[in-house]
Amino acid sequence: MTILLIPMPGDEEFAEALARSSGAEAVGLAHRSFPDGESYLRVDRNLDAESVAIVARLADPDSKTPALLFAADLARDLGARRVGLVAPYLPYMRQDQRFNPGEAITSKTYARWLSSHFDWLVTVDPHLHRYGSLQEIYSIETRVVPAAPLLADWIADHVERPAIVGPDAESRQWVEAVAACNDLPWRVMEKSRRGDRDVTVSGNGLAEFRERRPVLVDDIASSGATLAEAADALKSAGLQVPACVVVHGLFGEGCGRTLAEAGIDEIVCTDSVDVAEAVIPLAEALAPHVRELAEPET
Ligand code: R5P
Repeated sequence: MTILLIPMPGDEEFAEALARSSGAEAVGLAHRSFPDGESYLRVDRNLDAESVAIVARLADPDSKTPALLFAADLARDLGARRVGLVAPYLPYMRQDQRFNPGEAITSKTYARWLSSHFDWLVTVDPHLHRYGSLQEIYSIETRVVPAAPLLADWIADHVERPAIVGPDAESRQWVEAVAACNDLPWRVMEKSRRGDRDVTVSGNGLAEFRERRPVLVDDIASSGATLAEAADALKSAGLQVPACVVVHGLFGEGCGRTLAEAGIDEIVCTDSVDVAEAVIPLAEALAPHVRELAEPET
């Protein structure tokens, strides 16, 4: 049976690539906003008894989530027997505890919303730090696709004599995995965060990488402060300006300037977010997992 992929607005090309890799069919979603800002959605294909996956790149989730949930309910309302979500970037994973009294643990609420609208979820390297797995907060079947082999391939093709460096303890899982792919040396620095854009990064034992090109690897770049501070720490240790490779290039306001001020002129990411730096395509890595969850009986 054919899997039908329904892209959210802006994700049509990404869904087409995934359809080619997975043998699925991409189906259009008509979406517009009424004058008062509410969403209008329409699917012009019969979905009766079909296995459907909504494809959504969820950077800037507050502007996208209502339409996403409407689309899931629409597919079910039009008769789909199974409705999954392909969200290569899964948002709201970093607020995973109450850091200060009274704060919302939005990761749990967001997980409840998605779990109540979808039957399954495929994503890429979610920010699992204090949660051991997605199943701690998601009640639907999930698959996590690791980007490490893809990042490692890019580094092998573009950087001579690389050494992999992580800016903080949380990055260790990605740094170790990327380094292991090509048996490269690696090290993780220490970060302390005082605010959204206010971090300090320091590291020991970096001098041994002076003859190599450091590559900073992290799951997310948002304000860019973490990478900028890490690049400064590398510079202080006498290392070259690093190349930066991240899974999810969120690149919030001011990020480009922050990176440029730190001398970073080379940063790439996967196409989990629709940005110019997204040179590492995910479609082929996602495809088998989408097939597996969309057609569980085969
Ligand atoms: C945090 O733990 C993540 O792994 C990233 O290091 C962080 O989200 C990057 O954020 P920013 O670019 O704002 O420093």
